[in-house]
Amino acid sequence: MQRRVFSVVGARPQFIKAAPVERAFQQSAVSNSYLVHTGQHYDTNMSDVFFDELRIPAPSFKLNISGGSHGQMTGRMLEALDQLFIAEKPDGVLVYGDTNSTLAAALAASKLSIPVFHVEAGLRSFNRVMPEEINRVLTDHVSDLLFCPTETAVTNLRREGLLKGVHAIGDVMQDATQQAAARANEVSTIVKDLGLEGTPYVLCTIHRAENTNDLSRLRELLDYVRATAGTRPIVFPVHPRTRKICEEAGIGLDGFMPIDPAGYLDLQRLINGCELVCCDSGGLQKEAYFHRRPCVTLRDETEWVETIDAGWNRLWRTPEYTAPRREIADYGDGHAADRIVERIDDWFASADR
Ligand code: UD1
Repeated sequence: MQRRVFSVVGARPQFIKAAPVERAFQQSAVSNSYLVHTGQHYDTNMSDVFFDELRIPAPSFKLNISGGSHGQMTGRMLEALDQLFIAEKPDGVLVYGDTNSTLAAALAASKLSIPVFHVEAGLRSFNRVMPEEINRVLTDHVSDLLFCPTETAVTNLRREGLLKGVHAIGDVMQDATQQAAARANEVSTIVKDLGLEGTPYVLCTIHRAENTNDLSRLRELLDYVRATAGTRPIVFPVHPRTRKICEEAGIGLDGFMPIDPAGYLDLQRLINGCELVCCDSGGLQKEAYFHRRPCVTLRDETEWVETIDAGWNRLWRTPEYTAPRREIADYGDGHAADRIVERIDDWFASADR
């Protein structure tokens, strides 16, 4: 009998992570994945475009829940997922990363004694002001299988007493990049469309609550990026909330080329073509490395410390890269997703399950 795993996604980075994992599930003789889309991200260019470009199967269930305060969003998802899991009785629930969708699904499943599998377990910023830090700590502590992208993540879990079910399997975003980056360079015309072929440019994204909700910090960050870019154009795919805040507060984007949020292939192409990435995104910090482009992280800490140690990334308040550039072995060989599904299948097959 095939085991039914409900894979819960909701926000942009989760669609990217789900792409290689869904592909790996299609090879499994033991388990099937059914995608549940919470609705957290709902704009075409924040959601649908990823399903199309990354060839992710259409969700089996759509909850259409978004917006509101963190508590409201998480609470509404918790209730809807609880009902879904009671009705459908999945054998396991797979969650990705650290969003409100992640926490809601992990809580709903664990309260029904449904096993929870967490992809991207063990990451820590050690900054509890970030909603993501709360989400990832809580999710890890109710998870049965914890898939760590790095050895640092394994160490973080060990410090919190989490030893069982922990697997270092590499980074699924490395898999996604390997599977789609070449296609991006063939298919995407964005660099040409922006008139930037042959022009050195900087790529910038800012969307984190701690950066956008404090207007003086947002202004300071934008000034910093302008100064860092110098005369180079700054391509700025603007998250809907950042756009709204800038408009409402009258924050000008002089010196920036603001564009709509970019789909997966366009973003990979933009990274590949740029000289420097300035971002507060977790995923983009690593994607910059996957394309071997330097990055400045617009935050005061990062969970992806390997990128700093290997000289590819620095925090914006650190003026220089702190190490000579080298390769990062931790992120794996592009087969993290296969390992995840293998471990889940082994887990189902193991005694008394
Ligand atoms: C969420 C994640 C964050 C992740 C990010 C990726 C949490 C706590 N945060 O942050 O970890 O890095 O996704 O982008 O879960 N909006 C739209 N259209 C959309 C999506 C959002 O207009 O398709 C607007 C809405 O006004 C919404 C706001 O953006 O209220 C913020 O979206 P939300 O999902 O709450 O958080 P993100 O900042 O996207």
